[in-house]
Amino acid sequence: EMDRFVSDLLAKMTLEEKIGQLNLAAIGFDVTGPVVSENVDENIRKGNVGGVFNTFTPVAARKLQEFAVNNTRLKIPLLFGYDVIHGHRTIFPIPLALSTSWDMNVIEQSARIAAEEASADGLNWVFSPMVDIARDARWGRISEGAGEDPYLGSEVAKAMVRGYQGDDLASSNTVMACLKHFALYGAAEAGRDYGTTDMSLQRMYNEYMPPYKAAIDAGVGSVMTSFNDINGIPATGNRWLMTELLRDTYGFDGFVVTDYTAINEMVAHGMGTEAEAGELALKAGTDMDMVGEVFLKHLGKSVKDGKVTEAEVDLACRRILEAKYKLGLFEDPYRYTDEARPAATIMKPEFIEASRDIARKSMVLLKNSKNTLPLQQRGSIALIGPLANRQREMIGNWSAAGDWKQAVSLEQGIRNVVGNKVKINYAKGANIADDEQMLKRLNAHGGELDIDSRSSETMIQEAVRVARSSDVIVAVVGESQGMTGEAASRADITLPGQQLELLKALKKTGKPLVVVLMNGRPLALQWEEQNADAILETWFAGTQGGNAIADVLFGLYNPSGKLTTTFPQVVGQVPLFYNHKNTGRPFGGELLDKYKSRYLDVTNEPLYPFGFGLSYTTFSYGTLQISKTTISPTESLEVRVEVRNSGSYDGEEVVQLYIQDLVGSISRPVKELKNFQKIALKKGEARTVTFTITPGDLKFYNYALEHVLEPGDFKVFVGTNSRDVQEVAFRVQE
Ligand code: IFM
Repeated sequence: EMDRFVSDLLAKMTLEEKIGQLNLAAIGFDVTGPVVSENVDENIRKGNVGGVFNTFTPVAARKLQEFAVNNTRLKIPLLFGYDVIHGHRTIFPIPLALSTSWDMNVIEQSARIAAEEASADGLNWVFSPMVDIARDARWGRISEGAGEDPYLGSEVAKAMVRGYQGDDLASSNTVMACLKHFALYGAAEAGRDYGTTDMSLQRMYNEYMPPYKAAIDAGVGSVMTSFNDINGIPATGNRWLMTELLRDTYGFDGFVVTDYTAINEMVAHGMGTEAEAGELALKAGTDMDMVGEVFLKHLGKSVKDGKVTEAEVDLACRRILEAKYKLGLFEDPYRYTDEARPAATIMKPEFIEASRDIARKSMVLLKNSKNTLPLQQRGSIALIGPLANRQREMIGNWSAAGDWKQAVSLEQGIRNVVGNKVKINYAKGANIADDEQMLKRLNAHGGELDIDSRSSETMIQEAVRVARSSDVIVAVVGESQGMTGEAASRADITLPGQQLELLKALKKTGKPLVVVLMNGRPLALQWEEQNADAILETWFAGTQGGNAIADVLFGLYNPSGKLTTTFPQVVGQVPLFYNHKNTGRPFGGELLDKYKSRYLDVTNEPLYPFGFGLSYTTFSYGTLQISKTTISPTESLEVRVEVRNSGSYDGEEVVQLYIQDLVGSISRPVKELKNFQKIALKKGEARTVTFTITPGDLKFYNYALEHVLEPGDFKVFVGTNSRDVQEVAFRVQE
């Protein structure tokens, strides 16, 4: 039926009308590229626009939809897209934090709530999920994905697509998701945004592609191209990527939109003139041009000159019309513009509650010596640090429609949770960073500059005085909102500014030192690990962040998050990731063992490994059992382990299963996550966790890119993180 409808419509369209559908215009704010769409209203009236983004509310969307429907010959409705990344109005923790919950139900729930709010707010298309595997902590956009692991990343990708799209795209409370950024955007050289990627197909297929494929298998409706080039050809003009792999191999049948001006940028990539870039992009399989208007300006002539065919334009236009059809827009262009919905939907109490719950689940306890945490609800706290009372940072980057003024700061959260039972003594102690130029750039989008003009010595002295007169120090340090996200790569990933100096001065007071981190990437925290009594990674925790952190600090929630990115000791180790290859000269840790794959000045160990995270309770693992030690290539086997909550709090544990394929036709990683279970255990409770290892878990892409299981020796590892595991061997016989 959709086919017939779209074919009939296409048959009525002029070439200009078809090209108009391929144009995505931006209205409003959030300019993340060199140009802004102009005369959008007029262009809509002329039929030169297929969709708009960066505008929302049912009133605004209805007005523009009316322009399109009432003024154009064929009355084709518009798509309304937006960067709904970790919540729309109710903001959830940043995506990296969502992933550290290892809880697919709450991740799906966050996307479901975002879809409810976005669709009530005039939107029908969201630019999420971002599933780029990222192993380089310098890259600012590591904060927007699910970390370094292809298996976990795939689970998160599926959960997000399910949450946004539900099972009926045409329903007025679901939205079309957009998988991004296809592909390899997270592998940018040196962690510098928009950087080159050049990668073997084996690595690509085994380590980077799985989350994209998972989202496609989950039925994602659209895909966004990435800015980077891949093995020499920019993704946006890369036919192998956008057609052979995406459509022919993965079976994607939705439409492809570029990232912001990505076709224009192909000129700087060295692909020719703007018109030539447009031709390459269309021929590669790119359907919609975000903001750059290359298709609008040049495609008509390209068709006339025989550089592209009208059939190629038809194909792109068809895919966009199909998306509109799937969203039910032809049936009712105003499906998502019900003016009564926002008041009843946006920031509903249960959404706010969900945001607090998810935020608590995403926090990772990195250190807790002598049970410093949870804190007692009595006495006094020195609440110190530039992030202690920040609301803006709480909602993190890409919280586009989120109102930071509605976010709960940690200071407020502590007051909400403990009332007057605890005396709070506050001092700022340091600026987040002291480089005024950088902060100005970061906060260019209308943000305030939170720079204290006092000297750093004065600020630190004040903080030390406050600490001396309190029972315990809670130092809230980290990055500013703009220090992660797009165009926010950092070459130094320690705490910026004078924050480390502040911590050192606080340490000298001898008071228990709790470090609360707010940041969007793995940081190098050697001093902090050696000197703090407790460290809690809270990321940018969303609208309810302050309440959620206070819940964890005071033990109303026992932390259960686990890292999804490796934390290095020093920046020079990055990219550092747990699922690396062994090399021919693996380093075993012997100090004087020189001719090994190692550094002279630091070991190969991370500061905190992938999968790491502590709890207020302890979990003890029984002996790992395996059902069979030899199987055929079509058989599955089971591994079992008893996990006991051996401490004094109820808690949750993420039990992780990794495998290693010891011999292969290509070298294989030392460990690969293949399964996990997050279980809740009351104190004293024990449970046997059972995993099934299927033949599919043992497959990989070989040199010829065939997905194969190669018989031979394997190891299975089960444990509390990627480092602390038990292992058992098994063999797959021919
Ligand atoms: O969706 C984003 C993308 O992730 C980065 N460039 C701009 C797009 C639209 O705002």
